[in-house]
Amino acid sequence: MDFSAQLKAHVARVEHGLDLHLPPADTRPARLHTAMRYSLQAGGKRLRPVLTLATFDLFSAGAPQSQIQIPNSKILDALPAAVALECIHTYSLIHDDLPCMDNDDLRRGRPTAHRQFDEATALLAGDALLTHAFALLATAYTATPALAHALVRELADAAGSRRLIGGQMADLLAEKKADATAAELEFIHLNKTAAMITASLVAGGLCGAATDAQLDTLRTAGRHLGLAFQIIDDILDATADTATLGKTAGKDAQADKTTFVKLHGLEASRRLAREHSDAAQTALRRLPGDPAFLLALVSDMAVRVK
Ligand code: IPE
Ligand code: IPE
Ligand code: MG
Ligand code: MG
Ligand code: MG
Repeated sequence: MDFSAQLKAHVARVEHGLDLHLPPADTRPARLHTAMRYSLQAGGKRLRPVLTLATFDLFSAGAPQSQIQIPNSKILDALPAAVALECIHTYSLIHDDLPCMDNDDLRRGRPTAHRQFDEATALLAGDALLTHAFALLATAYTATPALAHALVRELADAAGSRRLIGGQMADLLAEKKADATAAELEFIHLNKTAAMITASLVAGGLCGAATDAQLDTLRTAGRHLGLAFQIIDDILDATADTATLGKTAGKDAQADKTTFVKLHGLEASRRLAREHSDAAQTALRRLPGDPAFLLALVSDMAVRVK
């Protein structure tokens, strides 16, 4: 299978997992569950859950469809972990778009949750997706308590006040700040974005029983991949159009966000994105299994701003 066919297969599996593991839209109160599915099933790139499935595949080569056999003959599956990551990511987008945050009208090519429903419903749908992610980990991995524990700890850390939320806070604090430093910007990117991307790789490794050294390598890859990803997001905000992005272009300049483009300019940002993509690929090559798909995924991401 070539890269795009493999990507399609992973994304299809994620979409199926999202449908399978989310409460039905008509669950009472239907407005809330409809809103959860509205944002989740609007069709994002699914980068994080695909990273989880593809990383898991490195450690379970030969087993079909991201599943491996564990000693007590239960089938271990990385899909619930991948779905949990996408639930947390989507919740972070719903809240990121709220009027009190980035105040965006468009997400994934559709009106943002608070535009489609209302602010309170968007807030609650985000809350519910976050909580659902941990409920899913706790129920899907009951047969492997040590794995459930490791996944909960990893995702809670990545989504918590020192990482994702801390990064979002720092991002808001740095708005309109004329003297923001490169170190402050790195804190923002490492936490609001790289934390969840790292957790996606590590979750795949944990499901695949990676060693501590391999998990460290995944963290190194995630750090670089996350930095590259947010630099690319900042470049695209400044250079791409709204139709291509599926979200409002030019928002960062409008809000005077502290971004790579603002601090370093477009050319230096492109170079830095390339350097971090290369460093992520170097780390991925140190893992067992065939990293071809993951390497191509990193290149595919970087190509968006060439
Ligand atoms: C957007 O993430 C938020 C950032 C961290 C830049 P994505 O660009 O992965 O958004 P979706 O999931 O494809 O919609
Ligand atoms: C948000 O970064 C990262 C999140 C944790 C949601 P941005 O604010 O740049 O993301 P977009 O551009 O709105 O997707
Ligand atoms: Mg933001
Ligand atoms: Mg935003
Ligand atoms: Mg952005």
